[in-house]
Amino acid sequence: MRYQGREVDVEGRVRLVMESALTARDRVGVQDFVLLENYNSEAAFIENLRRRFRENLIYTYIGSVLVSVNPYKELEIYSKQQMERYRGVSFYEISPHVYAISDNTYRAMKTERKDQCILISGESGAGKTEASKKILLYYAVTCPTNDRMETLGNRLLQSNPVLEAFGNAKTLRNDNSSRFGKYMDIQFDFKGAPIGGHILNYLLEKSRVVHQNHGERNFHIFYQLLDGADDDLLSTLNLERNPQSYRYLVKGNCPRVSSISDKNNWKVVTKALDVIGFSTEEVQELLDIIASVLHLGNTLFGEGEEGETYITTETQLSWLAKLLRVDGSALKEALTHKKLTAKGEEMISPLSFEQAVSARDALAKAVYGRTFNWLVEKINRSLAIKDEIYHSGKGSSVIGLLDIYGFEVLQHNSFEQFCINYCNEKLQQLFIELTLRSEQEEYETEGIAWEPVQYFDNKIICDLIEEKHKGIISILDEECLRPGETCDASFLEKLEDTVGGHPHFVTHKLANGKTRRVMSREEFRLLHYAGEVNYNVSGFLDKNNDLLNRNLKEVMCQSDNQILSCCFRREEVIDQKRPEMAASQFKNSLMRLMEILRSKEPSYVRCIKPNDAKQPGRFDEVLVRHQVKYLGLMENLRVRRAGFAYRRRFEAFLQRYKPLCPETWPSWQGKLVDGVSTLVNHLGYKAEEFKLGRSKIFIRFPKTLFTTEDALEAKKPEIALILQKSWRGYREWAKYQRIRHAVIVIQSGWRGMKARRRANRRRHAAELIRRFIKGFIYRQEEYCPENEYFLDHVRCSFLKKLSKNLPRSVLDKSWPTAPPSVVEASEHLQTLHMRNMVIKYCRRVQPEWKKQMMQKVVASELFKDQKELYPQTVGRLFLDSRLEREQISLKVLQTLGSEKVQYGVNVVKYDRRGFKPRARQLLLLNTFAVLVDRTKIKQRIDYSTLRGISVSSHRDGMVVLHVPCEDSKQKGDAVLHCSHVIELVTKLSMLASKTNYVNISPGSIRFAITRSKEGIIDFIRGSELKVAKGKRGHLLVTTPQIAAT
Ligand SMILES: Nc1ncnc2c1ncn2[C@@H]1O[C@H](COP(=O)(O)OP(=O)(O)O)[C@@H](O)[C@H]1O
Ligand SMILES: [Mg+2]
Repeated sequence: MRYQGREVDVEGRVRLVMESALTARDRVGVQDFVLLENYNSEAAFIENLRRRFRENLIYTYIGSVLVSVNPYKELEIYSKQQMERYRGVSFYEISPHVYAISDNTYRAMKTERKDQCILISGESGAGKTEASKKILLYYAVTCPTNDRMETLGNRLLQSNPVLEAFGNAKTLRNDNSSRFGKYMDIQFDFKGAPIGGHILNYLLEKSRVVHQNHGERNFHIFYQLLDGADDDLLSTLNLERNPQSYRYLVKGNCPRVSSISDKNNWKVVTKALDVIGFSTEEVQELLDIIASVLHLGNTLFGEGEEGETYITTETQLSWLAKLLRVDGSALKEALTHKKLTAKGEEMISPLSFEQAVSARDALAKAVYGRTFNWLVEKINRSLAIKDEIYHSGKGSSVIGLLDIYGFEVLQHNSFEQFCINYCNEKLQQLFIELTLRSEQEEYETEGIAWEPVQYFDNKIICDLIEEKHKGIISILDEECLRPGETCDASFLEKLEDTVGGHPHFVTHKLANGKTRRVMSREEFRLLHYAGEVNYNVSGFLDKNNDLLNRNLKEVMCQSDNQILSCCFRREEVIDQKRPEMAASQFKNSLMRLMEILRSKEPSYVRCIKPNDAKQPGRFDEVLVRHQVKYLGLMENLRVRRAGFAYRRRFEAFLQRYKPLCPETWPSWQGKLVDGVSTLVNHLGYKAEEFKLGRSKIFIRFPKTLFTTEDALEAKKPEIALILQKSWRGYREWAKYQRIRHAVIVIQSGWRGMKARRRANRRRHAAELIRRFIKGFIYRQEEYCPENEYFLDHVRCSFLKKLSKNLPRSVLDKSWPTAPPSVVEASEHLQTLHMRNMVIKYCRRVQPEWKKQMMQKVVASELFKDQKELYPQTVGRLFLDSRLEREQISLKVLQTLGSEKVQYGVNVVKYDRRGFKPRARQLLLLNTFAVLVDRTKIKQRIDYSTLRGISVSSHRDGMVVLHVPCEDSKQKGDAVLHCSHVIELVTKLSMLASKTNYVNISPGSIRFAITRSKEGIIDFIRGSELKVAKGKRGHLLVTTPQIAAT
């Protein structure tokens, strides 16, 4: 039981209040049998049903089981508004309805994520199919949808009219009786939207195709086709409108039913085929098959004189071949002959008249039955989940809907009824297992004090039918397979032999007198849980065999009709293995069904038929009592009353309601049972309201739970807030953790890298140091691996140092001291560098400056370290001339003519005799020099004749120009004093190319006065320059300590 998801919004409450007035009428009798005072009384039970039925209240609960009584009239309780009323509303709050069950199941599926199923049971005509349709409609209308799902919802709904047209028929019990079992799965996604569906069908009553009991009809589709199709269609199928023309439709003598409009239904069906996705060709092929079945029924046989069988209706046959799209002559032969394989040889043997008729009927049944299966498959394909995502089935849940033929007792009951009723036994067994027995067992295992309720367990009947080797089905199969003469009668005998003693089995032979009177010799009786049924064994073997002659199969395999070629596979003809018998097949499919149902959470709808006449308002007490009895409703009620309305595992209960108690919220740490007990104490449950079992809590009244549920609803916003808070907190925390983690990763990566680098550097450094030391030790050796690094380094660092400390000027003579290994290189470099500097310097030098330099060089060569005056003059530039041009007399210049004065300077000339000083100009020209006294050239000295130039080594400016005395024109050596003696001597010696003729004498200077007479100049040191005539007639020159110039 579930009570989730009640709406308690304000609107919802108002709605409930308003509706309580509206539903007051609903409260005739009790809505839930559990509330019945005298719950042991069957009379009270039926009275409650009757009172409610009279007020058109067809639904009543027994706890969570819905009891429904067929009203046989349209009630105004299935509208859309009604659906809305039940949507999301708690089960017990509102009047019972099939919608309440639907909604409850749906919500349980959604919230608990567990597959559900709704089992609808009841005898034929009790309203099962109607109920299942209402449930389906409820889901189609109320579930959330999108476009795709809407198509799906439509297809789900539209599958009903199609399947009903082909699988339902009018019977005595029900005008629209399902002649097949149907289990439908509806698949929902996690949001609760329907996303797919699947149908399993069970044993179609194929015999109806060829035979109907009096007052019954064939399957609806035949009548719909004949009544609804337009003339054109009928003529293409070569059909007449009158159903009476077809032998397969006249057996029950009931072509029309007042409650059914075949014409309208035809429209509905053709539209439905379109919605489901049948193509025009498929519809045509389908109708061809339906028509062919009718033609097959009208195919008649004659018996020749020699006992041979032939077909009398040739035109029928040609139409048949055309519609089935098979070869006519092959079909003709297959209908009248059979193929036998004897000793590996194939033989054709003619059929007798009866055999031909039954072969024809077998073909009709096979064609129709297989087409029906194809139809279901086709529908399944159109309902299948298309989306890839959903294929995984993840997050989706299923609601199964079982609407299977109800328990059936007819005048003549055959194999089909046997199967149908066996199926109902199985369902009853499941019901017992899931409700009564499991409920009682649960109380026991949970250790809850409990008064056992007696109920009839129908396992004994199920065993009688299905037990291996001993059951009726096994015996039937055995009889079919047994070689030799077998017939239905021998089967009956076998039954008597094997299960004769069974308390639920009787035959004419075994029965007492009273029973014997109502049984024929061909019958056996089973005492079903729902009543006694006599089964006529005739046809059992054939139907169980379900055989179709092999040559008929072969013909059908050749069909060009796509549907038929799907239905009749070639492998089947080739495969000699016998297919499973019909009853065993059915038994196995039921077993599988039971497994499917067991795996789901069941809900029940128990349908009751109020009268056999399909009349509204008539309540046949005997009939109802009978159904109440065999449906086990009283036991059901007693078990519920004795027990508890609600149970849940501790963890589930605690999980759901823990927010209602501070001690259990947000989580309970101790034992579960203590948690639950704390919780219910806090909620104020009274002792009689609940019991704690070993693993579950049992709550006696629904009311208790409603109060709790209300409290939970009220608490939800608060919880939502807490969840939100903690989720946000968690999100931030997780984000922080992520960042922190990332930071740590980056940090450790970076640190690792740093450490690795450092280690590398250290290793490298250590290596370096080692090589360095080694190199140092071997530094004196030749360049070798031991010292190469060291030496390279020394060289390199010297070069580097050198590069920074190179002398910047030619005068800078500094040079870093080179280590021994590079001394040579260093010297080369030094020279190179010096040269380089010099070259650079020279390049920069101007011609004047060059001249200057050259003169300076000559001066240096002449005077350096020779004359004391020299160092003072080094820093002073030589001038081009010491005389301005105007200072030289024009006359002199004229006299000199073209000879250009290269240098001029004022000098003092001393007479050779008296040493009288006279001021003169000395002009140097290219080839000679002249001494000028103002305007007069006093003396001309040709360079060629110049014998020498003498100066002292002192600081004086004395200079003697030696000329040959022989020459009378010459006046003898000139004794001069010049303030620019260095400059003068340099220029003169250079012009005259007589640098080698310069004498620097540390002592006296001798000079010629005449050819034979010499003069002498003496030098002494004094305070200042003085030139005077000394003793002995010498010229005495006092040279100063410090330069006077
Ligand atoms: N809830 C209902 N409201 C009105 N008529 C109903 C209802 N249930 C059943 N009937 C009538 O009873 C007939 C038989 O019901 P159906 O569901 O076919 O029975 P079942 O499937 O149990 O054999 C329906 O055709 C319909 O006329
Ligand atoms: Mg039905």
